[in-house]
Amino acid sequence: MSVVGTRPNFMKAAPIVRELRRRSDEFEHVLVHTGQHYDEEMSQIFINERAIGDPDYFLGVGSGSHAQQIARVIERLEPVLVETEPDVVLVAGDVNSTVAAALAAKSADVPIGHVEAGLRSFDRSLPEETNRIIVDALSELLFIHSPEARSNLIAEGCTDRSIYYVGNTMIDTLAALKDRIDAVDAPSMHGLERESYLVVTLHRHWLFEHEALLAEAMDRLAEISEEIDVVFPMHPRTHAAVEALGRPQDDGRLRLLPPLGYVEFLGLVAGAAAVLTDSGGIQEETTFLGIPCFTLRPNTERPITVEMGTNVVLGLDPGRIVEVPRLIREQRAQEARVPPLWDGEAAKRIVEILAMKLDEARPLESAHA
Ligand code: UD1
Repeated sequence: MSVVGTRPNFMKAAPIVRELRRRSDEFEHVLVHTGQHYDEEMSQIFINERAIGDPDYFLGVGSGSHAQQIARVIERLEPVLVETEPDVVLVAGDVNSTVAAALAAKSADVPIGHVEAGLRSFDRSLPEETNRIIVDALSELLFIHSPEARSNLIAEGCTDRSIYYVGNTMIDTLAALKDRIDAVDAPSMHGLERESYLVVTLHRHWLFEHEALLAEAMDRLAEISEEIDVVFPMHPRTHAAVEALGRPQDDGRLRLLPPLGYVEFLGLVAGAAAVLTDSGGIQEETTFLGIPCFTLRPNTERPITVEMGTNVVLGLDPGRIVEVPRLIREQRAQEARVPPLWDGEAAKRIVEILAMKLDEARPLESAHA
């Protein structure tokens, strides 16, 4: 069983789901969508574009506080686990649906495989950080895509034999769709010249907890849009907060857009001069594409994107947005590399490990000694 619920889950799970279906003589697969993300632009478009097909079960949990979301997933997933009796539940990333599915699987005594295990920002004020720690503590199979994930997990008491460096399934999706992404020519669709504009995504909780930071970020974006076109596809929650602030207006050089589909969005990123973001996955996608990325957060759980890739952590300081045009000019000269095994084959490695483990016909061992 794979459980997905949010935009980033779809891209991480899709290549695994496809590989499991390709090997359907060996695996039966059940896809569950929790419904944490439910807008067409946040959910259905990714299911369609990645052709993972409609889910077998839709739990319809919708919006709510973190506790409500997690509680609803646990409650609604339990009967599905009882009915379908999976051998393994696969969860990806760090969102509320991920931790909730892991808790439900644990109570039903079903082993868990965590895709994107071991990432740590060491900042427990972020709900995603607690979600990561809990999911890793509950999982039997820890699939990692970054070398430091292994030491993070071992430091928390995981055994080395439960950890598998498989590569990055989010990059599998990007590599598989790269031709389609290029063919769509998103920059032209938006009347933009390649390498002349900045793509922005901001949706983290800090924006909503500190109105002054959001206001400053929007003012600084308006300021730099006199130098560089700014394209900002907004998460629905960011859109609502910006509307409530009443500024700034979309003026042609600062473009405020609804959330975009995967192919269109990555097309804009691939053609951009740089990206400014507080997302996790986009730090990895820009590293793979070699596009400079500026992360407006105090820290990153993905240090490899800074060490090897194109990422620069600006800190949680929207005042620094005005430095971005200069930083883009400086960063262009630098050579970035793609981390090991970010090669489009991670899902195949995961499914091969599942085949091996399930063949052993003995219970999966705990990841903790
Ligand atoms: C979640 C993840 C975050 C991830 C992000 C990707 C958690 C803790 N956070 O944050 O790590 O980067 O997804 O987008 O799980 N909303 C809509 N339509 C939707 C979904 C949400 O309007 O389809 C609005 C609702 O008002 C909702 C709010 O956005 O209450 C927040 O959504 P939620 O799912 O709680 O978290 P995200 O901010 O999307």
